[in-house]
Amino acid sequence: MDNIDKVIDYINVQRDRYVDELKEYLAIPSVSALPQHHADVRRAAEWSADHMRAIGLQNVRLVETPGHPIVYGEWLNAPDAPTILFYGHYDVQPIDPIELWESPPFEPTVREGEIYARGAADDKGQVFMHFKAIEAHMKQTGRLPLNMKVFLEGEEEVGSVHLDEFVRHNKQLLAADVVVISDSAMFDRGVPSICYGLRGLVYYQIDLRGTKTDLHSGVFGGAVANPAFVLAQILSQMKDKSGRIKIPGFYDDVRELTPAEREEWKKLPFDEKKYRKELAAPKLAGESGYTVLERTWGRPTFEVNGLLSGFTGEGPKTVIPAVAMAKVSMRLVPDQHPDTIAKLFVQHVEKIAPRTVELKLTRLHGGKPWMAEFDSPYIRAAGRAIERGFGKSPVFNREGGSIPVVATFQEELGVPSVLFGVGLPDDRLHAPNEKLDLGNFHGGIIASAHLYEEIAQLRPSTSV
Ligand code: BES
Ligand code: MN
Ligand code: MN
Repeated sequence: MDNIDKVIDYINVQRDRYVDELKEYLAIPSVSALPQHHADVRRAAEWSADHMRAIGLQNVRLVETPGHPIVYGEWLNAPDAPTILFYGHYDVQPIDPIELWESPPFEPTVREGEIYARGAADDKGQVFMHFKAIEAHMKQTGRLPLNMKVFLEGEEEVGSVHLDEFVRHNKQLLAADVVVISDSAMFDRGVPSICYGLRGLVYYQIDLRGTKTDLHSGVFGGAVANPAFVLAQILSQMKDKSGRIKIPGFYDDVRELTPAEREEWKKLPFDEKKYRKELAAPKLAGESGYTVLERTWGRPTFEVNGLLSGFTGEGPKTVIPAVAMAKVSMRLVPDQHPDTIAKLFVQHVEKIAPRTVELKLTRLHGGKPWMAEFDSPYIRAAGRAIERGFGKSPVFNREGGSIPVVATFQEELGVPSVLFGVGLPDDRLHAPNEKLDLGNFHGGIIASAHLYEEIAQLRPSTSV
């Protein structure tokens, strides 16, 4: 029997144990955004490191950052073979609103072939899938077919704030031929895909203050500005009726979709009616002249992520709020730069905000957009591996979400990334009842095992 067949056999035999272990990992509430979970985030880092040692990785360690630790481990005993840098994140999003979860978010529960838990798809489940592919190789052959560096962070969901600097200062440590990431979704159930583009992000908090305190709206109404209303007026000037963003210069660096790419996307099995129905949206909305896939993958957006002002309790209260707050964000596409867009946004808001309120703009996290070279030997290798794991060759998609470090790997290390995700569009990332399909988890382990074997056949471009 070939080595790879032995490896796949092992994966099939160990299927249930793998799920049991995954439950342990998912049970750790590694919510990076919330201070009360600090110790849990560290526990997840340590659990990851212990597991990496158990599957045979070497020099495994936690690397401290000013925030949550990085976990690093390697296996570098294949001198003439290429090196994979595997990146993932062990932190997860907050769970609220808790009352909408059908089973508790940190008590992983299997229902109808899917495992429900915060982090199941984003991203612990997909990180664990690679752990298990590594384990299978090590157990059955005593080695990996190539060199492997595993690099996990605990701050992806809070914007990877300390990661760029770490990458810049550790180029030797992270040197590799290719980055492999499983932190995205397939195009659809039964339609495996390779993701070749991500959007970038700029995020701001807008704070307005009208007066020292809330005021009686009868006594003072008419004489002072209402910050809630001013905020609505500002926001209403961010987009026009056709869905185009009105910030001057916003589209200057947008790379237009090519006719060829638009043609390819039209061939994908996308059902707009089903999409709308699943979201329970009365009607879809977006920039006119573009399809849903174009709007979400290839066009920038401006969104209001949160709004807060005034009295929102039961019944009426006649009051003029002293303050109003909005969280807003813009998704970016190639070749928009977050710093440029941030500047244009600030200029625009400062210009349209009336002098009747005090304005404060605070920039939160963000990241650059990314797009892969389409035709690389690594992408072709991933295509063959996915075909073996899922019985179908993948389609190529872009995603609307952001993984800030991908552009950093490209710019700082000059290393291309292959994004091979096994989530599904309805996995409810960042929402109640997040899940991962266990068939995809299993197929993903097999595909990952094949991916290492396929990349091992390629000529390395660096030596470690
Ligand atoms: N894994 C997601 C990004 C993603 C989701 C990519 C679906 C492709 C498909 C990642 O964990 C995430 O949520 N990123 C944030 C980035 C932000 C916190 C800087 C995002 O996209 O909002
Ligand atoms: Mn993620
Ligand atoms: Mn996420």
